[in-house]
Amino acid sequence: VNAYNQGVVDQPIYTIYLRKNIQNGDAGVITYGGVDSTNCGSVIAYQPLAKYDNYIIAFSGISYGSYANSSTYTTLVDSTSGSIGGPPSVIANMAKVVGAIHDEGYLFYQVDCDKKIPSFTFTIGGKQYTVDSNQQLGPKNATSNMCEWKFYSYVEDGFWIFGGPFAKSYCNIYDPGNKRVGFALPKGQ
Ligand SMILES: *[C@@H]1O[C@H](CO)[C@@H](O)[C@H](O)[C@H]1NC(C)=O
Repeated sequence: VNAYNQGVVDQPIYTIYLRKNIQNGDAGVITYGGVDSTNCGSVIAYQPLAKYDNYIIAFSGISYGSYANSSTYTTLVDSTSGSIGGPPSVIANMAKVVGAIHDEGYLFYQVDCDKKIPSFTFTIGGKQYTVDSNQQLGPKNATSNMCEWKFYSYVEDGFWIFGGPFAKSYCNIYDPGNKRVGFALPKGQ
C-alpha cells in the first residue's frame, strides 16, 4: 500500500508464486504491483473477501477420497503457513481416509509415505480447485516410513487456513484495493 501511495508500483496488488519444488534455494517469487504473468497463467477467478481485516474468503463443498462435506466454510488465504488447517471434525474424518495418525505431541499427523493419497478438492465461487497428493506430504520420518501429513486441526469449526499446499497449487493474487483474492495455475510445472 505504501509503495502504491508513493507511485512506486502500478497497482495495489501483489502475487505470491511458490515453486512446488525449491530449486537451488529458489522457492518462488513475490511480485509487487500486479499479477505475476511470468510464473502464473491467466487468473481463474477472483473471490471477494468475506471479512476486510484479513484475506478471508468463503468456499464450500470439500471432498477427500470417500469423504465429502457440503458445508460452507471460510478460509484465511495464508501463503506463509506451511500446512492446511481445518475444522477438527473434518480433519479427523479426512485423516481416517488415509489412515493418518497423530504424532507424539498430538499437534500434527503422520501417514505411511507409500499410502495412496487422494486429491483434496473444494469449490470457491463456483469453480473447483484441487490440491494434489504430491502437495500433501512432508519429509519422511528419520526412523520409520511415516511422512508428515500437511493437514492439522484448527480450533474453530467451519474455519480453515489455506497455507503452502494450496499456495503451491495456485498462485495467490492479493488485491486489497478491490477487496478480493485471485487464483491462477502456475506455469510450466
Ligand atoms: C462437516 O463440516 C461441518 C463444518 O465444519 C462440521 O461441523 C461437520 O462435523 C462436518 N461433518 C462431518 C461428517 O465431518
